[in-house]
Amino acid sequence: MNDNDNKIIIAIDGYSSSGKSSMARALARVIGYRYIDSGAMYRAVTLYAMRNGMILPDGSVDTNKLIAALPDIKIDFAVSNEQQNTLLNGENVEKEIRQLPVSNNVSRVAAIPEVRHRLVALQQQFGRERGIVMDGRDIGTTVFPNAELKIFVNAPAETRAERRLKELLDKGEKVSYDEILDNVKQRDHIDETRAESPLRRADDAIDFDNSSMTIDEQNKRLLQLYNNVIGHHD
Ligand code: CDP
Repeated sequence: MNDNDNKIIIAIDGYSSSGKSSMARALARVIGYRYIDSGAMYRAVTLYAMRNGMILPDGSVDTNKLIAALPDIKIDFAVSNEQQNTLLNGENVEKEIRQLPVSNNVSRVAAIPEVRHRLVALQQQFGRERGIVMDGRDIGTTVFPNAELKIFVNAPAETRAERRLKELLDKGEKVSYDEILDNVKQRDHIDETRAESPLRRADDAIDFDNSSMTIDEQNKRLLQLYNNVIGHHD
């Protein structure tokens, strides 16, 4: 029997800046699973579109041009010193994809069905070996509808904006609370209302509101949920 047969797939979805990436990463580390940040893939495609003049002055996306370029966009991850780096055609773009200009364009790029089909197929390939924690917007609904553990993370927009502000200020970015809050609300809206796999809680997902939890508390709670599933598994 393959070692990975006992491993499960864990899908963590939720609103922007809800802390799902840190939760997912921490859980993966503790249980020895691979962590995949699906948002990083949409961010990398967005950066490619920005660099290649596919974001028009009014903020709309030159969809045809981007679709034609999709075969030329290779995305991968490299792990070094505990840090996961996102590679766009071999270049480490981890820092750039987290900055506000990318955040301001990503939800429009992520709404394009052809972009989603391509990235979902790639995400499903990562899951073939199981033993994976993936976070995003549609992991429990579209990418891995049979995932054994599905979590839906939420917290009020203001709490999420404060968290993201702190994270970006700590990295030395010059941003204000108001522009972050605007971005969070705008992405929530685009993500929830797009036609192709919108952000939605899967019917069998566990609601996880972490607004009044410390990082330590949320990590412990998530580990508990994983242990519950493993206890009932096989
Ligand atoms: O970390 P943060 O909450 O800011 O967002 P992210 O996970 O990096 O995702 C960035 C954007 O990509 C989201 O606002 C969505 O528009 C899009 N996305 C998506 O559509 N589907 C996913 N599975 C993951 C991200």
